[in-house]
Amino acid sequence: MLQNFLVTGGAGFIGSNFTRYLQNNHPASFIVNLDLLTYAGSLENLKELPIPGKYHFIRGDIGDSSLVESILRDFNIDTIVHFAAESHVDRSLTGPSAFIQTNIVGTFTLLEAARVVWGENNKMDPSKVRFHHISTDEVFGSLKPGEPAFTETTPYAPNSPYAASKASSDHLVGSYARSFDLPVTISNCSNNYGAYQFPEKLIPLMILNALTGKPLPIYGDGMQIRDWLYVDDHCEAIWTILQNGEIGESYNIGGGNQPPNIEIVKTICDILDKSVGTPEDKCHADLVQFVKDRPGHDRRYAMDITKIKNELGWQPKFDFDQGLNRTIDWYLGHTDWLNAIIKEKEYQNWVQINYQGRE
Ligand code: NAD
Ligand code: TYD
Repeated sequence: MLQNFLVTGGAGFIGSNFTRYLQNNHPASFIVNLDLLTYAGSLENLKELPIPGKYHFIRGDIGDSSLVESILRDFNIDTIVHFAAESHVDRSLTGPSAFIQTNIVGTFTLLEAARVVWGENNKMDPSKVRFHHISTDEVFGSLKPGEPAFTETTPYAPNSPYAASKASSDHLVGSYARSFDLPVTISNCSNNYGAYQFPEKLIPLMILNALTGKPLPIYGDGMQIRDWLYVDDHCEAIWTILQNGEIGESYNIGGGNQPPNIEIVKTICDILDKSVGTPEDKCHADLVQFVKDRPGHDRRYAMDITKIKNELGWQPKFDFDQGLNRTIDWYLGHTDWLNAIIKEKEYQNWVQINYQGRE
């Protein structure tokens, strides 16, 4: 086990960081990356892989059952780490159907392929195979002020189509463990940030807009709270679960950093004022614009990570200050990567749709 990996969505933000993490820290691993290369996936995210020879890319859909089955057989896959998803809440409000297809039907297709292929020759044994599913804290809904952080037993109460599709996929994964003895683990993580994140999510979008002198759109009053997790910490947590996690269990992963959105945006602006200077006599924070709120906007997420900390010994290493400075440095050093995205029609169309929805 833990030799031949199928990483789904490995050309996206977290998947590409995890692929690099795996090669850097566990060089014996062989990795097949199955990714459809939607707007969110790019092979540019994997250009600097340390051991290209132990890696194979396949462009394809996780919903294509014959493709997935043949990958599991041809590469003798023993470990599936499932990242592939439609991942952006705002897009799930304007176009939910891709979320249902990829996040629910796609996850079902992967589970079914694993059940069929690993079920052959009695391979469905926790010491031989593993299906790890990456999910989100958004399945738990929104916390009111003073309410305790989400634990693994918090009832599911998803609000957006994105969150509902991930909740559905979590339930399917759990059902395959209970009904068919598929050896699964699940992790529910909080908002990630770091290198290679597509600039539609809060932190990279604000960095990009500030650098290009565009408005910094704050939804509602900007006092919503997320539990920010640096992506390198997340990759290490996933590896810890793969090694020591108990089959059939889910684990919450969080970074413990909970500044409100407006504070994050102002901090990004302050860092950029110092590192790239300010346009004329202005500062980057002058670009902040409060805009119409996101419908059904979850007010607060917070993760209780006691279980993974006590049972598996993982806790985050990066505080928000360190993580944010590293992230901004990465974007400043990768303006070519950002410029390539800005030029894409898909990106320009999305900016227009999102902007119009908030006028
Ligand atoms: P992302 O949007 O950056 O990347 C998703 C990747 O999946 C892309 O490379 C895309 O091409 C690929 N993909 C989409 N549909 C596919 C399909 N049908 N078949 C094959 N590949 C397909 O996402 P991310 O931010 O890296 O998130 C990865 C996972 O982590 C997702 O499951 C997401 O729900 C979960 N998650 C993300 C966050 C976060 O803050 N980014 C937080 C909690 C959970
Ligand atoms: P986002 O990065 O989209 O992640 P999620 O919705 O999955 O938590 O958004 C993080 C927070 O930032 C969320 O409260 C919405 C808010 N937000 C803005 O205020 N402006 C923006 O332009 C974006 C993209 C997000």
